[in-house]
Amino acid sequence: MQKPVRLDKYLADAGCGTRSEVKIHIQKGKVTVDGECIRKPEFKVTDQEVCLDGKTVSQAKEFVYYLLHKPAGVISATTDRKEKTVMDLFPEEIRNGRRELFPVGRLDKDTEGLLLITDDGALAHELLSPKKHVDKTYFAVVNGILGDDAIRVIKEGVDIGDREITLPAALEVLNTGEDGNTEVLLTIQEGRFHQVKRMMKAVGCEVVYLKRITMGSLHLPSDLLKGMWRELKDEEVFALKNTLYTDGFPML
Ligand code: URA
Repeated sequence: MQKPVRLDKYLADAGCGTRSEVKIHIQKGKVTVDGECIRKPEFKVTDQEVCLDGKTVSQAKEFVYYLLHKPAGVISATTDRKEKTVMDLFPEEIRNGRRELFPVGRLDKDTEGLLLITDDGALAHELLSPKKHVDKTYFAVVNGILGDDAIRVIKEGVDIGDREITLPAALEVLNTGEDGNTEVLLTIQEGRFHQVKRMMKAVGCEVVYLKRITMGSLHLPSDLLKGMWRELKDEEVFALKNTLYTDGFPML
């Protein structure tokens, strides 16, 4: 059962016009609820069928979730006076719509890959909380060879100049090229500032390319081109929330 909501709010949230525009539609008798003409904007609707000019109006979702393939060269911010932001990759009606969208966490300007954009502050807070240990996997190309000691240190925890060493990480060396570059998959449970670059620097390597490919249960789809985005499916949102346990209970 949906939460009761005023009829004018229901229609405005569903994109049928501003609150005052939809009030006029209601007062003119253009709106029906379960087939009955309702002329009161304050009328409460829950699960009934709402129609405007005879067409069904579906209830707006409480929150929206977009999965963006961030390209290099844009910053993870909502606005900036000088730089192009991740929000500039969305069309005007989403960017400047009634929802206050923001990126969940930051990828560096030169980092590519999966970035979640939403207006769900509670979910963002949980995903970014250091206590939640949400896994993030990065594909990185580093210049240098990762020896056994470096691999062990990265896996067990490395001193990157913070108070605490990093939490254990998963590291898979994919290949070492003749150019001296090494390709790795690194999964970390935290999201410290420049963390991957600093972890690699701590073992004497420089990251020359970085791309995030997973966050929690989300995976960067192989057919989502750089700079493109798509809305998450309901089951993807469900799975993401289901990975976040609060006091032993899923956050649903
Ligand atoms: N680690 C980094 O160093 N940079 C990013 O953008 C993300 C993780």
